[in-house]
Amino acid sequence: MPILALDIRGTAGKAMSDPKMTNKQVLVVVLVPLGILAISVLAYSIVGPPALLFPPVLGTVFLAWLIIELRHFIVGRFVRLTEENRAQFNQVEAILGLSRFLDPKYPLPATRGWAASPDMLREIVMQVLSDAPQMVLEASSGTSTLALAYALERVGKGRVVALEHDADYAERTQRMLALHGLQHRATVVHAPLVEHRINGVELLWYDISKATIDLPIDMVVVDGPPDTTRPMARYPAIPVLHSKLAKSSRVLLDDGGRQDERATAELWAKEFKATTIQYLELEKGAWLLRFDR
Ligand SMILES: C[S@@+](CC[C@H](N)C(=O)[O-])C[C@H]1O[C@@H](n2cnc3c(N)ncnc32)[C@H](O)[C@@H]1O
Repeated sequence: MPILALDIRGTAGKAMSDPKMTNKQVLVVVLVPLGILAISVLAYSIVGPPALLFPPVLGTVFLAWLIIELRHFIVGRFVRLTEENRAQFNQVEAILGLSRFLDPKYPLPATRGWAASPDMLREIVMQVLSDAPQMVLEASSGTSTLALAYALERVGKGRVVALEHDADYAERTQRMLALHGLQHRATVVHAPLVEHRINGVELLWYDISKATIDLPIDMVVVDGPPDTTRPMARYPAIPVLHSKLAKSSRVLLDDGGRQDERATAELWAKEFKATTIQYLELEKGAWLLRFDR
């Protein structure tokens, strides 16, 4: 990184409006001229008057270097700001399009932080519109459940069952669905994480024993359990559900930009012979897999 690249973190605009020089950069700007002065004095005591050339020559070199570094910094900052603006615009564009298309009874809930991003929600909705699934299973719940329920309502058929390991969160999502009048399209099941024995291996995943799932499952949306529960926390989804999938089914995995999710998608594709696997360039990245038997 160039020494003059100021401390600018491009997230949430935190330091973007108030770039500060780091201690290291202040030291360079103060110590280099002092060093030039010291070298010149030392050179004068050794070679005499010709050393008088040292300060202007070394000073010019230092100034030229500073100007080049500053230019790198300004161009870098411009590029970062442009990329951030474009990324934010993409999300605004997605949520505006979604809100207009889904025409929710109340405003859609927040789509930052833990919730699926607007571009992921748009992808989920587009998949529902293109496939008109009868049964959608969601691993996790929240804004995405609402988007799924609205999309199914637009299609005029189908139901989503969302598995939620957190009782409070399950209740919150269920209340939100009731508020929007979508209980006939979506059900949140409080499903704590339990051990599933698949092919002799214990896998921790949602307890589906209390979920009423009309088989087969046409579409699976995986955005949980959170990665804080254990490494590769979402991998068990397809080993547990594979036998319950329809002849032709789709799986959408959120947070595809993360290492664990990349490995998970690739393992699913290999172990369960996915017909297609595709990485979606979304804010958090996502994987779309299709299974046909
Ligand atoms: C990535 S979130 C799923 C978000 C969901 N797909 C949505 O669009 O709202 C995975 C799980 O994290 C938990 N969770 C959601 N929001 C949270 C928060 N603000 N803090 C802690 N856990 C949260 C819930 O149990 C949720 O099922």
